[in-house]
Amino acid sequence: MTALRARALTRTYPGGVEALRGVDLDVEPGERVAIVGRSGAGKSTLLNALGLLDEPTSGSYRLLGEETVGLDERRRDHLRRRALGFVFQDAHVLGQRTVAENLTVKLATSRVPRAERPPRIADSLARVGLSHRRDAAGRLLSGGEKQRLAIARAILTSPAVILADEPTGNLDGVNSQVVRDLFDEQARDGVAVVVITHDDRVAAWADRSVILQDGQFTEAMPQ
Ligand SMILES: Nc1ncnc2c1ncn2[C@@H]1O[C@H](COP(=O)(O)OP(=O)(O)O)[C@@H](O)[C@H]1O
Ligand SMILES: [Mg+2]
Repeated sequence: MTALRARALTRTYPGGVEALRGVDLDVEPGERVAIVGRSGAGKSTLLNALGLLDEPTSGSYRLLGEETVGLDERRRDHLRRRALGFVFQDAHVLGQRTVAENLTVKLATSRVPRAERPPRIADSLARVGLSHRRDAAGRLLSGGEKQRLAIARAILTSPAVILADEPTGNLDGVNSQVVRDLFDEQARDGVAVVVITHDDRVAAWADRSVILQDGQFTEAMPQ
């Protein structure tokens, strides 16, 4: 089954800005897709729509075969929490909490039963190579470690799709490579990975790069 399928998605903001003007996108399980484009092209608007953080003005968006446009808020919340994992440029780590507590907060808001939490946390931390930092305070992590924690948080609920907005924007070359390697591992497990990026290395790494310009996909890079 196609992981996500968007058809003729539009998003017009109050005031009249047409941020998306008819976007079609299919992403298969295990596929790594990069979305590139200038500032203001509509990339974050698209990611918010794909992430069920915002509703498109019109069009169709199927996630794991289920139409999400017009779905009630409860079901959208459930799908967002269980089927999607998010990684942003800023890792959004809670500095006063330990690494493990940062993950517990996510599991609690996703209503994962208590008994399931410790093994999920252990598994996620092992996958990103942070098991040894389990009890460290978030504020003590390096930038690369923070982003690894953000990825551990994104994969806690075994999402079908990872949506990332400039995940390597704050990282050096070595840590950018770490993020790509972790996403590769997810893709090998069948997770669809959609990454908004300005990073040429990420665009080159993806199976497919698509260019967004003025709210539509285009063939060539705008001059
Ligand atoms: N909440 C909003 N209200 C009104 N206009 C917005 C809002 N968010 C974004 N926009 C406008 O929509 C267009 C696309 O923005 P955005 O999706 O953030 O682009 P990108 O992420 O590619 O830089 C821009 O013209 C931006 O000014
Ligand atoms: Mg943006």
